[in-house]
Amino acid sequence: MYESHWGLSLKPFENTPDPNFLYHSPQHEEGLSRLLYIVSEGKGAGLLTGVFGCGKTLLGQTLFKELDRDIYKTAFIANPFLNYSELLMHIAYCLGARDLPKNKQDVLVNVVLERLGEILENNMRDGKKTVVVIDEAHVITDLRVWEELRLLLNFQIENQFLLTLLILGQPELKAMIDSNKQFSQRLAVKYHLGPLTEQETKDYISHRLNIAGASETLFAQGTAKLIYKKTGGIPRRINHLCDLALFAGFGKNSKVIDQDLINEVSADVEC
Ligand SMILES: Nc1ncnc2c1ncn2[C@@H]1O[C@H](COP(=O)(O)OP(=O)(O)OP(=O)(O)O)[C@@H](O)[C@H]1O
Ligand SMILES: [Mg+2]
Repeated sequence: MYESHWGLSLKPFENTPDPNFLYHSPQHEEGLSRLLYIVSEGKGAGLLTGVFGCGKTLLGQTLFKELDRDIYKTAFIANPFLNYSELLMHIAYCLGARDLPKNKQDVLVNVVLERLGEILENNMRDGKKTVVVIDEAHVITDLRVWEELRLLLNFQIENQFLLTLLILGQPELKAMIDSNKQFSQRLAVKYHLGPLTEQETKDYISHRLNIAGASETLFAQGTAKLIYKKTGGIPRRINHLCDLALFAGFGKNSKVIDQDLINEVSADVEC
């Protein structure tokens, strides 16, 4: 809507996890390289935690984009708010199982686990690696679900894991996993993403503007510092505030986003 006013080819601050916009802050870079390491080395499982809106899903999506489809078979579970049998069914379905049973949960779990085992072995025989990402895993409170996920890590041949499980979620997930010793002992890597620093917030804004084709001077001097103060360096909040500022500035026919405009829009919303 406001793109042509600001000379943009894209909206720079959409709140969707689009890998094309990834800004490689040191911690996003480190988080991504650890995820890639777990996957490429065929480690059993890894954990990525972080505060709300800091880029966990974006890193998961970026990892998936980088995986060579000729080598990796993947499942990305975006919403694991499912019971234990449904979650296993969903993973199996994403990995290509089609002939799944539909009745009696306990029987079903064994059958689904068996089907998953076959799929994983076939993948390995075909020279493929299997990667399952569970996003938003902090919503999994049913211990049976964690138990089923742990069982997936028992699929091994000659001490090689047949799948890599990446668990992403908000900070409380770490305590949940730490209290489940059998599961946490299998994690090869744990990494936590925090907010951006003030300088990173400035670079983040410039980076996203740049990808969207904007001039770096679109945001006046001092605005990045103010945006950092208002948002605590959380990317989703930064996006929200910057998007509103671009919209409001367009409405006023402004030529630049300045501190007054940032103050004005942030007074109207909780960013
Ligand atoms: N390093 C980054 N580079 C570019 N954009 C980013 C970065 N980190 C986060 N974002 C953007 O911030 C927004 C929130 O990111 P994302 O959805 O990945 O956060 P999250 O940690 O998964 O949040 P939640 O805890 O709510 O699931 C998205 O629009 C995403 O593209
Ligand atoms: Mg997320």
